[in-house]
Amino acid sequence: MALDVALDIGTSNTRLATTDRGIVFDEPTMVAIDTNSGRVIELGHGALDMVARTPRHVVVFRPLAQGATVDFDVTSRLIAGLFDRAGVSKMSRARVVMSVPSLATSIERRALRQAAIQAGAREATLIEAPIAAAIGMGLPVQDPIGSAVTVLGAGASEAAIISLGGIVTGSARRLGGNDLDAAIATSLRIQLGVVVAPAVIESLKFALASALGRTKGRSEVVLARTVDRGDLVEIDVDADLVNAAVLEVVTTTVRMIQECLGDAPPDLSQDVSARGLTLAGAHAQLSDFAELIATHTGVAVSVAEEPNTVVIRGLRLCLEEMSSLHSLYRDADR
Ligand SMILES: Nc1ncnc2c1ncn2[C@@H]1O[C@H](COP(=O)(O)OP(=O)(O)OP(=O)(O)O)[C@@H](O)[C@H]1O
Ligand SMILES: [Mg+2]
Repeated sequence: MALDVALDIGTSNTRLATTDRGIVFDEPTMVAIDTNSGRVIELGHGALDMVARTPRHVVVFRPLAQGATVDFDVTSRLIAGLFDRAGVSKMSRARVVMSVPSLATSIERRALRQAAIQAGAREATLIEAPIAAAIGMGLPVQDPIGSAVTVLGAGASEAAIISLGGIVTGSARRLGGNDLDAAIATSLRIQLGVVVAPAVIESLKFALASALGRTKGRSEVVLARTVDRGDLVEIDVDADLVNAAVLEVVTTTVRMIQECLGDAPPDLSQDVSARGLTLAGAHAQLSDFAELIATHTGVAVSVAEEPNTVVIRGLRLCLEEMSSLHSLYRDADR
């Protein structure tokens, strides 16, 4: 029997689930390739650990940026490697359900689908991330009721109101948690004259960033290198610096959600006022984000349970649905 696969390839993290085993992969979207043979050497955490430690013929890639494939061939190799890891043989011609940002262009969608086919999939069905998220949260997406969801990822942010199985109004931006990290890095360079490792920047964000600036007065000591001489120094980073740095992206995200809610027809607006808005995606865990959004939209906002895996859980449910439909067809064929 062909194994079916749900796949959420994000800018930062990739998740893979099968109908029978659930989520079997949830690791960084990274792949280490031997450029001599073209062979995939490591995926996910294994590839991340190889960064800056590889011999010349091994290159570690991040094949996505801002939610979109920037390297078709590497994406396809990543998918093939994931199939391998999940025990899906190339011969089994798996059926794949994948998420795609709602703002993806038709070229980006085709590239993603083709990458899966080239990796050995028999067919690849794309589902827009807000719809997958709404299904993953158990919202009544097929009903004539407005469900408001916002997916906040590393490279894409999307707000949507869903009813009768589709997006009625939506707005999206190619920015997310990664842009917060980039803004913090820029401020550290300009204001303190230092360069800090990406993982340390992210830990500063986790410890000090608050969408409402509630971390005022806190600080963290981290290791950095001076820009001018490259000396290793300890610096004390203030929460004010971090909160000022992330403000612009946070504000843009709130505006995006306001735009989506503002475009909704009156009946759906009423549904959203009554039922609230749910946030998914790992970046939704930014401290006080939900509260800030609630203040600026006048709608009750909550963060989904396990926001990181909402999309992949939704895709897995779609897969189950498709499998049962297929078995219905098979029954009818007899
Ligand atoms: N507790 C947290 N607080 C704030 N940000 C967080 C937290 N946990 C994770 N993040 C951020 O969430 C982002 C990753 O989110 P997610 O895994 O949903 O993205 P993705 O699916 O890879 O990207 P995309 O869907 O945008 O292509 C990173 O920027 C990470 O720093
Ligand atoms: Mg994502």
